[in-house]
Amino acid sequence: MTITADSSVLLEVRDLEKSFVRSRDLLGRPREQVRAVREVDLTLRAGETLGIVGESGSGKSTLGRCILGLDTPEKGEVVFQGENLMTLSRRALRRRRRDLQMIFQDPYASLDPTKTVGHAIAEPMRIFERTPRHEAEARVATLLTKVGLRTEFAHRYPGEMSGGQRQRVAIARALALDPKVIVADEAVSALDVSTQSEVINLLVHLSAEFDLTCLFISHNLSVVRHVSDRIAVMYLGRIVEIGSAEEVYERPTHPYTRALLSAIPVPDPAIQRARPKTILEGDVPDPAHPPAGCAFSSRCPLAQPVCRTEQPALLPRANGTLSACHFAL
Ligand SMILES: Nc1ncnc2c1ncn2[C@@H]1O[C@H](COP(=O)(O)OP(=O)(O)O)[C@@H](O)[C@H]1O
Ligand code: SF4
Ligand SMILES: [Mg+2]
Repeated sequence: MTITADSSVLLEVRDLEKSFVRSRDLLGRPREQVRAVREVDLTLRAGETLGIVGESGSGKSTLGRCILGLDTPEKGEVVFQGENLMTLSRRALRRRRRDLQMIFQDPYASLDPTKTVGHAIAEPMRIFERTPRHEAEARVATLLTKVGLRTEFAHRYPGEMSGGQRQRVAIARALALDPKVIVADEAVSALDVSTQSEVINLLVHLSAEFDLTCLFISHNLSVVRHVSDRIAVMYLGRIVEIGSAEEVYERPTHPYTRALLSAIPVPDPAIQRARPKTILEGDVPDPAHPPAGCAFSSRCPLAQPVCRTEQPALLPRANGTLSACHFAL
């Protein structure tokens, strides 16, 4: 067991590594490997929301899944309330798991179409707490109200609801056991823009009311900004910049963060025209064969020879953020 020194730290990720075998040779040995998460260190302070951004394939979901124990990392620690989840027995881990809940992009995939909404929300109560039926029903009604749905939704089926309503059900279900940590993985990405902001507002509201600590994962930087206290930017499995949401958005020090931000349209056309642009050229490299040195070097407008040979370390910058770039601003 590891004791975390700073008591405000609820969850800590240390040196996390997770690879997937993409292809094997004739003898079944790994031929190509994708290092989905590489040397990731993170802390989540009690009550904060940490946004994780980056293009598709950067390792955001794998990081979230490793934290929740849905993927098993090869290396590293996930320390929750001073306990390393990696070394817990199956039984102890199961008990811990109720404190850590996930909300996925597509609740339709996680909600059984043949079971009512009430059944879905009450399921964790039955499994983990053997809550008596009448008590579970009362709690389901309360949870539905909290997520902005009428209590009669308990009798409906997922197929009869809109995407936004289904996502509210998924949130109610995640809250059923009064968790401490929520990992929301692209939780609003499948919704239309106005429903997105409703669900985001709901999450912000509930995370204050339930005193939740959140990891909010999205490829969409405009979505993450409004919910996050801090932001981590990932590229090919690594965190390349991390800091307060304000600093990362207003004064990004990493060229990749700047490129991602300059791709967000600004409503005012005059500001949009005047804004410095960093065009993100090309696609994300094949994660099984990342560039040597800095993984961003194949697309970075500032790349120098040293970038192609030396991996930049994630170092503190003057504005209090950390970033991994030889030429960080
Ligand atoms: N179960 C898996 N099997 C094989 N490769 C995977 C698996 N899950 C993720 N990957 C690979 O790991 C990398 C990171 O994926 P992911 O964590 O889903 O990124 P993101 O959520 O940022 O889009 C990608 O290259 C992806 O193809
Ligand atoms: S280390 Fe070099 S290639 Fe990497 S982001 Fe910085 S300037 Fe660009
Ligand atoms: Mg993902």
